[in-house]
Amino acid sequence: GATRNYDFNIQLQNVTRLCHTRSVVTVNGKFPGPRIVAREGDRLLIKVTNHVSNNITIHWHGIRQLRSGWADGPAYVTQCPIQTGQSYVYNYTVIGQRGTLFWHAHISWLRASVYGPLIILPKLNVPYPFTKPHKEVPIIFGEWFNTDPEAIIAQATQTGGGPNVSDAYTFNGLPGPLYNECSAKDTFKLKVKPGKTYLLRLINAALNDELLFSIANHTLIVVEADAIYVKPFNTQTLILAPGQTTNVLLKTISKPPGANFLMSARPYVTGQGTFDNSTVAGILEYESNKNLPLFKPTLPSLNDTSFVTQFSNRLRSLASVHFPANVPQKIDQHLFFTVGLGTSPCEKNKTCQGPNGTRFAASINNVSFVQPKVALLESHYSGQSKGVYSPYFPSNPLHWFNYTGTPPNNTFVSNGTKLMVLPFNTSVELVMQDTSILGIESHPLHLHGFNFFVVGQGFGNYDPKNDPKNFNLVDPIERNTVRVPSGGWVAIRFLADNPGVWFMHCHLEVHTSWGLKMAWLVLDGKLPNQKLLPPPADLPKHGMKWSPAEI
Ligand code: C2O
Repeated sequence: GATRNYDFNIQLQNVTRLCHTRSVVTVNGKFPGPRIVAREGDRLLIKVTNHVSNNITIHWHGIRQLRSGWADGPAYVTQCPIQTGQSYVYNYTVIGQRGTLFWHAHISWLRASVYGPLIILPKLNVPYPFTKPHKEVPIIFGEWFNTDPEAIIAQATQTGGGPNVSDAYTFNGLPGPLYNECSAKDTFKLKVKPGKTYLLRLINAALNDELLFSIANHTLIVVEADAIYVKPFNTQTLILAPGQTTNVLLKTISKPPGANFLMSARPYVTGQGTFDNSTVAGILEYESNKNLPLFKPTLPSLNDTSFVTQFSNRLRSLASVHFPANVPQKIDQHLFFTVGLGTSPCEKNKTCQGPNGTRFAASINNVSFVQPKVALLESHYSGQSKGVYSPYFPSNPLHWFNYTGTPPNNTFVSNGTKLMVLPFNTSVELVMQDTSILGIESHPLHLHGFNFFVVGQGFGNYDPKNDPKNFNLVDPIERNTVRVPSGGWVAIRFLADNPGVWFMHCHLEVHTSWGLKMAWLVLDGKLPNQKLLPPPADLPKHGMKWSPAEI
């Protein structure tokens, strides 16, 4: 493969949306950030230089980072942050992957403005397993905040309450015509020719909402999810959780009517929580069709769980000769994790704005993850884990109860920095059960360092006796982010063939802030090519200024 060099300068830039101008943290002054394009097999050298006062790290979401965990990016997990005036070169090779991914800041809520597409093309002369598109168009969904999201989350963590929601959703940084007079000029336009096939690379980089997406009068053919080819199927609407990507083919009409077509996205939410229920819109414009009436798509209702469930059940791996589904068939380690919201006690002499005067917390197996001050990978590698983390993450919840029935009267979770340790090449089956204790919301769980197979999902309490009988071990979807459905469960399998420390967390940023996260420690194998590579010399090290807002 080739070597591709990129320079990422973290700098402030004034950006105006919805008539509000704000100085935002950007990469190279761009909002959203620049697009990275590489081929399978290429090596990427991305030099990130920090010119702002915030600490920063960048994560290459969905890149497996085989043995190169030092380049993964989550702050205090695989590295300490890049401080003001410092640089760090993210150095990794894209092995055995191609498709649509994205990159984003992985510290505090900086992902709100520091994100962009990461596109891995197949190796030279290797075709897609579908019609060659006339054109490829990345569309990245995001959120716009009229006020500084860093201040919003800092305030929320101070008070223990829920943070303010964003002011708009965006397509490639643009909110579109439905918000107010001044947002109309900030509309994403996709100009197309009649009778052609376009490949839309859809990315949900929003902080806190799952989004439904549709284009008026056009059917979309789903061909890829989370950079894995799927068996193609037609749909009017898609659902993308934050952290998920989906490629669709859009066949344009050969004799379009005298109209243009709105493309819209708005949230899917099961509970009544606080969220921005507005709609982002872009325009699909046929060549020479200017100033014509706009047709609008019909999106499912905000809480249409049956659509969302059907959609996820339709996603199947290609499972072909060229793209096999290597689902682990024999399992070494069966794990059961509860994921959900809870509370933790309010500190003395404070008034907390969470439920019943507590502070909001979220947990996996009742452990609310506490970010260490030393990066976990660094502390593991140097053999100095004492006082940094415990290697005993519980394989079952600490408190048992009926997850979908009456919640327990004590919703308190315990704090801890615990790692689940796995010997090299352990095959894992993990069932994640949503607890629905507080609020009803699904949780898009994202695993770093691996893809996993989604072998089953259901509603109610997981039944370890009968549910596995219906697992799909033939062509399950392989991905890096899966929705744990509200009031239900999902079962995944993966092979721990990548040594290092790997973060797993809810990709709803507010839940990550509240502690819905944990990490895996995969030990080195015996062979030289089964070991984590040594840390790069410029890796930002600990012992530097640390601010409590960096949760
Ligand atoms: Cu896209 Cu740990 O994140």
